[in-house]
Amino acid sequence: MQPAPPAPAAFHAPGPLRGTVRVPGDKSISHRALMLSALAVGTSRIEGLLDGEDVLATAAAMRAMGAECVREGDGRWMVHGVGVGGLLQPAAALDMGNSGTSTRLLMGVVASHPITATFTGDASLSGRPMGRVIEPLARMGADITASPGGRLPLMVRGLCPAVPIEYRLPVASAQVKSAVLLAGLNTPGLTRVIEPVATRDHSERMLRGFGAELTVEEDGTATRIITIRGEAELRPQEIAVPGDPSSAAFPAVAACLVPGSDVLVEHVGLNPTRAGLFAALQAMGADLSFENAREIGGEPVADIRVRGSALSGFANDPRDVASMVDEYPILFVAAALARGRSVFTGLEELRVKESDRIAVMAQGLAAIGARVEETADGLIVEGTGGDRLAGGATVAARLDHRIAMSFAVAGLVSHAPVIIDDMAPVATSFPGFEALMTTLGAERRQLAPA
Ligand code: S3P
Repeated sequence: MQPAPPAPAAFHAPGPLRGTVRVPGDKSISHRALMLSALAVGTSRIEGLLDGEDVLATAAAMRAMGAECVREGDGRWMVHGVGVGGLLQPAAALDMGNSGTSTRLLMGVVASHPITATFTGDASLSGRPMGRVIEPLARMGADITASPGGRLPLMVRGLCPAVPIEYRLPVASAQVKSAVLLAGLNTPGLTRVIEPVATRDHSERMLRGFGAELTVEEDGTATRIITIRGEAELRPQEIAVPGDPSSAAFPAVAACLVPGSDVLVEHVGLNPTRAGLFAALQAMGADLSFENAREIGGEPVADIRVRGSALSGFANDPRDVASMVDEYPILFVAAALARGRSVFTGLEELRVKESDRIAVMAQGLAAIGARVEETADGLIVEGTGGDRLAGGATVAARLDHRIAMSFAVAGLVSHAPVIIDDMAPVATSFPGFEALMTTLGAERRQLAPA
């Protein structure tokens, strides 16, 4: 994929944010919906799929390996699957763009197919560690040649039949868990993943929904033991993808921070392994409630109402990190406006996301006048007690969509402009972010010509 030219922007809120909006489909569920549909025998239909660049990278890869993936309309897709074991050798390298989820999950898929695939990505993805998936997949028999440091570009030569393993996750990572389970799908016998900390369970839910034999045992502590029987036959499905809570996080926090706001974000997925941010905001005193709770496609969904709120400082429980792992950047912004001190710990995984999210947020927040102190595994934030931040700086998004959106929201509660050097990465997960924020009353600031 060609990098888009940098698109600097800054936003402000001339008044309270108000209105009813829907965010795009859940990114994690969208990736899995395409992959499992491509591995089913027959035609699946998906609605609400996120048409973001990351998910399009997954669709392109599934096409390159023989599945038919057709976008029929807004978020509506038809996928004609080739069956577990039926993927074909891709003719060219698979370009994963910015998407760690596409890369790690597809490495798992390829690992137990009799094919070889090369994975490439952008500068951000090429800096991210892949050793965490290489290690278990190599134990299953895949032959993986990576760039120095276990990075992209890398080549996976699958083994068929692969060897089933029992794997205890050394890091709390749904991507690693899913890579092993997806490799297990075409592996004879039982493949088992033991996760000491619960991470998002969309793979488990959807694998079961497609007819795979998968069990989850809990041992009375937080540990979960997930077992999949391989050589499964997946049945095609009709899938409805709920709105992404990780995207809903931005208008929700914006509504908390801009005084007098009243925003309803409809149709948000609230899987308990994903909903940590909303509980954290409530603990900080946010006027945030759930309406019309329901279930869609095996996932809990609700509408979230958020009103302007005076927030207090927050100390996270490191055991809850996985349930909001992608939401810390925007939570740091909320903490910067809260009354008192917030202490965030146990966040080392944030350093290996699309950017080093602890360092990048600490630098950007300091540049716009927040009082922050970076620690090895987190951040300490002294909030303003609701006063606006100074602003008046350009912050670097570093090819990280969530950094860009977090500073877009920070700009709504800053005196002088907060210029994000490049909003282009937002298209990976939240196309329409600016339009949505504009619907609620935010405005793009006029920037002086460079
Ligand atoms: C994801 C899992 C998380 C998350 C990422 C999406 C997934 O990564 O940060 O944005 O869809 O499985 P880790 O599992 O590596 O923590």
